[in-house]
This record gives sequence, structure tokens and C-alpha cells, in this order.
Amino acid sequence: MRKHVALLLILFPMCGHLLNLKFYNDPYKYTWADAEAFCRENHTDLVRVRTAEENTALQYSGWIGLSRKDATSPWKWSRGGEITIFTQWDGGEPDHNENCVNRKSDGKWESKGCGEKRNFLCYEEKLILVKENKTWEEALEHCRSLNGVVTEDPASSYWNHDYDLVTLITPKDYTTAREIAQNATTDEVWTGLCNLAGEWLWVGGEEMQYEDIPKCPTEGLCGVLEKNGTAPYGIRNCQQKRNFLCSTFN
Ligand SMILES: *[C@@H]1O[C@H](CO)[C@@H](O)[C@H](O)[C@H]1NC(C)=O
Ligand SMILES: *[C@@H]1O[C@H](CO)[C@@H](O)[C@H](O)[C@H]1NC(C)=O
Ligand SMILES: *[C@@H]1O[C@H](CO)[C@@H](O)[C@H](O)[C@H]1NC(C)=O
Ligand SMILES: *[C@@H]1O[C@H](CO)[C@@H](O)[C@H](O)[C@H]1NC(C)=O
Repeated sequence: MRKHVALLLILFPMCGHLLNLKFYNDPYKYTWADAEAFCRENHTDLVRVRTAEENTALQYSGWIGLSRKDATSPWKWSRGGEITIFTQWDGGEPDHNENCVNRKSDGKWESKGCGEKRNFLCYEEKLILVKENKTWEEALEHCRSLNGVVTEDPASSYWNHDYDLVTLITPKDYTTAREIAQNATTDEVWTGLCNLAGEWLWVGGEEMQYEDIPKCPTEGLCGVLEKNGTAPYGIRNCQQKRNFLCSTFN
């Protein structure tokens, strides 16, 4: 039970992610869907903006990774289909028949037709294999301490970390992660897949994309990636010790 509370403390401030982001500014003009495809193939995804600080840091005008299916659907980030909490709409926005989002040079957001061609920004995530055998929680702590910020307060260390246990969303994420995992000394590596009060989620904040994942029992179970397997995830006792993958924006 105590462990559960500690995990809650770490995970609770998840929605206000403060990261040191560096972005790729691509000079091409692409439709929103083409921009997403470009970013997913050549980098990680279209840029995601979760806080006012991140939005200010962008200094850029063009597509961001936010869109919706239609006027009655929620606005979701391309990465992981995460429903947006933070928004920075300009006055009168969004328009009810425009479903993709452009960031203007003054930082305000406006909806635009998804077929318009615009600049866009991709972001890049890098993976690091740690060849040490640790429990899931030790692995999480290790990743989050990689930038040197370790404090007594789990919430504040959360706010400062640049690294996290890896989140795997796109097919390219899996390909890259499996390639890097080949050098692990264990057959499976921990990923950032964890459960909180019976809900599976990625520790980086993305929604869980697999609906077939067992709902119970989940107590004490965490996610792994099998080096040689084809399954997107495996579920193991969090106390087992194995290598793990950390990720960071680069
Ligand atoms: C990835 O980048 C290459 C080289 O810039 C480009 O030719 C290719 O079309 C890009 N991939 C996608 C899916 O846009
Ligand atoms: C981790 O565990 C694997 C498999 O049990 C073992 O081969 C490897 O030597 C261990 N690595 C370390 C650093 O202890
Ligand atoms: C695995 O380790 C070898 C030797 O250190 C290195 O040359 C290779 O690039 C590594 N492979 C991956 C996918 O990181
Ligand atoms: C995984 O694949 C590698 C290379 O094909 C092989 O050497 C290794 O024995 C395999 N490991 C398992 C657990 O099947």
C-alpha cells in the first residue's frame, strides 16, 4: 500500500510536463497529415505542447501535433492520441469546421483546414539502454536521475527530469527500441508501462493504446519489451530485476 502512495506522488503532476525541448524546424510546407507522417518516419512525432512554458519556447509558426476527427471529437495530440488539457486558442478559435491546429508567431493557436500546407516542427526522442538489473521502480528512479537532478521530494524531481522510462507508441518506436534492446544482458527490458489504481498508462503521460491489456489483477505488475518477441508488451512482477530503456528529448 505504501508503495502505491509513493507511485501516486510521482505520477500525479504528470500533466504539467516541463521538459527542456529542442525541436527540428523543417522548412518544407506539408499538409497536417503529411507533416505527421514525415515526423513519425524521420523523427518521433509532430510537436506536442503541454504547457505555457513549452508554448513560449517554441518561437515558431506552423502546424503543431494537435487535431480532431470532426467538430464533435476531442482535440488530441498525435503522439499517443492524448486528449489535450493545455490550450492556447486565439480569440474566436477554434472554428467549428477546421480540425487541425496552427501555432501563430505570437504563440496563439488557430484551427485550420488539415489540407492546407504549412511549416511544421518535429520532435525527436532518444533511447538509452541501461545494462543494469533493477526493479521497475529503481529503473524509473535511475532514468529520472540521469540529468543529475535528484531531490528528496518525488514531485519536484518529477518536474525537473529530462529522462523517463521509455514510452512506445508508433511502430517505429518499437523497431528502434527492439534494435537497441538487442544489446541488453536480459531477454526483456522494462518499459514505462505501469498501472495506477487499475488503469494502465505510460509513465510519460501518454494514454495506453492497447485495450486488450488485462484490467486485473494489476497490483505490482509492470511492462516489459521482449528482445526477440513480436508482442507489443509483456506484463511482469515489478520486483523482478532486469535491464531497461530510458528516453529523452534531444
Ligand atoms: C523522411 O525524410 C526524407 C528525407 O528528407 C523524405 O524524403 C521522406 O519523404 C520523409 N518521410 C516521410 C514519410 O515524409
Ligand atoms: C543481469 O542479469 C542477467 C541475466 O540474469 C545477467 O546475465 C547479467 O550479467 C546481469 N547484469 C548485471 C550487470 O548484473
Ligand atoms: C550494441 O553494442 C555494440 C558494441 O558495443 C555496438 O557497436 C552497437 O552499435 C550496439 N547496437 C545498438 C543497436 O545499439
Ligand atoms: C534472440 O535473438 C538472438 C539473435 O537472433 C539470439 O542470439 C538469442 O539467443 C535470442 N534470445 C532468445 C531468448 O531467444
